[in-house]
Amino acid sequence: MIAVVGSLNLDLVTPVPRHPVPGETVLGGDIVEHPGGKGANQAVAAARLGGQVALIGRVGEDDAAGVMAAAVRAEGVDTAHLARTPGVPTGRALIAVNPSGENSIIVSPGANSRLTAADCRAAADVLNRAKVTVLQQEVPDEANHAAAELAGGIVVHNPAPAVEGVVPPRHVDVLVPNRTELAALTGTPVPDTIDEVAAAAGKLSGAGAVVVTLGGDGLLLLEGTARLHIPAFAVQPVDTTAAGDCFCGALAVALAEGRTLEQAARWACAAAALSTTRPGAQPSLPHRDEVEAFLKR
Ligand code: RIB
Repeated sequence: MIAVVGSLNLDLVTPVPRHPVPGETVLGGDIVEHPGGKGANQAVAAARLGGQVALIGRVGEDDAAGVMAAAVRAEGVDTAHLARTPGVPTGRALIAVNPSGENSIIVSPGANSRLTAADCRAAADVLNRAKVTVLQQEVPDEANHAAAELAGGIVVHNPAPAVEGVVPPRHVDVLVPNRTELAALTGTPVPDTIDEVAAAAGKLSGAGAVVVTLGGDGLLLLEGTARLHIPAFAVQPVDTTAAGDCFCGALAVALAEGRTLEQAARWACAAAALSTTRPGAQPSLPHRDEVEAFLKR
């Protein structure tokens, strides 16, 4: 079983010809709404790829709460530990996507910011039994720290979005930052080359292994003194939203199935590449048979 502690957001997505600069208004296309949120995306990704998944999180008591809960439930995700917070909106994300598929996102966390350590303690049984627990940073640190303490299996922490000054939980087995998140964690400039990424990752302490996701450059896996660069799959991206979430969900499934970190990372790389070829967050997340077919191309 895989436990995901994390956020649920209703995504409001607008295509834009280019991202606005401060003070500028850009006319976009028609807005669409999708279920999203890094936690819910990771949970749905893992469920579509064959994982048995429980999601620990919070929504409000508005219409979006029902939409978000129904979306994850429809994928078979266990929502017994999805709580409602009265008087607070469900999380929402305002997303602009340019013609290259690059996004910019503003998150209004709403109920996600009310998730507590006590919520995680109430799910202690789930966290203790889970083969893999997945965390990210759209919920308060206290929830992540409590979940990592209670986790009985492998802890995967995706320090997204990048937040300066956040201290990742101590009990993390696999840390999965992208370049920007790595820079925020280490206080270094955003690394560009593979050597710069490796040097920045070398400044991290505590996590057992680090998998730096590099978008079109693939990923860099650092485990002990070993360092492995895995190139990206060649795809034509239309929307990169949730690619990192897809990667983490897929990584969790493969690790829960007993694959090595390298095997899991290669498989997750394929799932994430496939997700970038479709628009939206949860709508873009592939099913297992699609990933297997993609790998046989
Ligand atoms: O990682 C993509 C997600 O980030 C979106 O679904 C949005 O809700 C934000 O949380």
